[in-house]
Amino acid sequence: MILLDGKATSKAIKEEIAAEVNARRERGLKTPHLAAVLIGEDGASQTYVSSKVKACERIGFVSSLIRKPSSTSQEELLQIVQELNEDDDIDGFIVQLPLPKHIDEQEVLLAIDPSKDVDGFHPENVGRMALGLPCYLPATPYGIMQLLERYEVPTSGKNCVVIGRSHIVGSPMSILLSQNNEPGNCTVTLTHSRTQNLESIVKNADILVVALGKAEFVTGDMVKEGAVVIDVGITRVPDASKERGYRIAGDVDFASVSEKCSFITPVPGGVGPMTIASLLKNTLQAAGDKRN
Ligand code: GUN
Repeated sequence: MILLDGKATSKAIKEEIAAEVNARRERGLKTPHLAAVLIGEDGASQTYVSSKVKACERIGFVSSLIRKPSSTSQEELLQIVQELNEDDDIDGFIVQLPLPKHIDEQEVLLAIDPSKDVDGFHPENVGRMALGLPCYLPATPYGIMQLLERYEVPTSGKNCVVIGRSHIVGSPMSILLSQNNEPGNCTVTLTHSRTQNLESIVKNADILVVALGKAEFVTGDMVKEGAVVIDVGITRVPDASKERGYRIAGDVDFASVSEKCSFITPVPGGVGPMTIASLLKNTLQAAGDKRN
C-alpha cells in the first residue's frame, strides 16, 4: 500500500509557487493577491479560511480576509462581491461556503467575475470544466487530480466509483475522471443517497472517491483488493481523550481499508492540504502576466 501523501505533495507544490512568486517579482510582475470572504461564525469554516490566508502569506502572496457576521444581508454580500470584482489589485477571491440560510448561494456565486473565481464555482467555469476548456478547476477535485498525476496512479480504463454528488467535489470528480485526459479515461459511476445496492457498486471500484461527509462510512469489507481510495471526508468526531474535545475523521475507516488498497489518502494529511495548494495555483493563474 502506498500512501498518497497530500502534506508532502502540497509542500512541494507550494515551494514551486513560492519560487514562481520570486521569479515574477524579478520580472516586474504583480504579487498575486487572494481575498477570502467569510460570513458567520461556523468553526470549521473559520479554520479552513484561516489556513488559506496563512498559506498565502507563507508563499509570498498578498491576502485579504473579509469577515462579516451571520446577520449580513444578501445585498451587503453582493456589494462586497461587486467591490472585489472591481478591485484591480485583487487577482482572485473566494466566498467560503456554506453561507447562512437566508442567503441565496447561487446568486452570490453568479455575481463573482468568472476571471476572479479561483474556487471554480461560477457556472461559466463549471461549464468550461465540463467541456474540457481552460478554466479554474474547483480546488478539491484539482488537488485530487494532482495527487493521482504526481503519484502516476494508473486511471485509464479503470472503474471509478464516486460516492457523493456535491457541486464542490463529487460531481466535478465524476466529470474530470471520465474525460479523455491523463489522469482520466475512467468508466465512472456517480453514487448518491438514492443509489441502490451501493455496496455491490463500491466493491467493483478500482478507484473509489469518497465524499459524502459521514465519518468512517467505507469499511474494508466494502472495498476491492488493490483499489485506489481517495478520502475527501473531514468530520469532527467528539473525543474526550483529545484536548480540543474532538478528532478529525475521514469518510473511510483507514485501519481496515488501507489493508486492501494499492493507494490511499490519509485523513488528515491527504486531500485537505492539496485543496489549499490548488487554490494557490489558481490564484497564481489568475495573476497571469499582470504587472505591478
Ligand atoms: N466549503 C467547503 N469547501 C470549500 C471550498 O473549496 N471553497 C469554498 N469557498 N467554500 C468551501
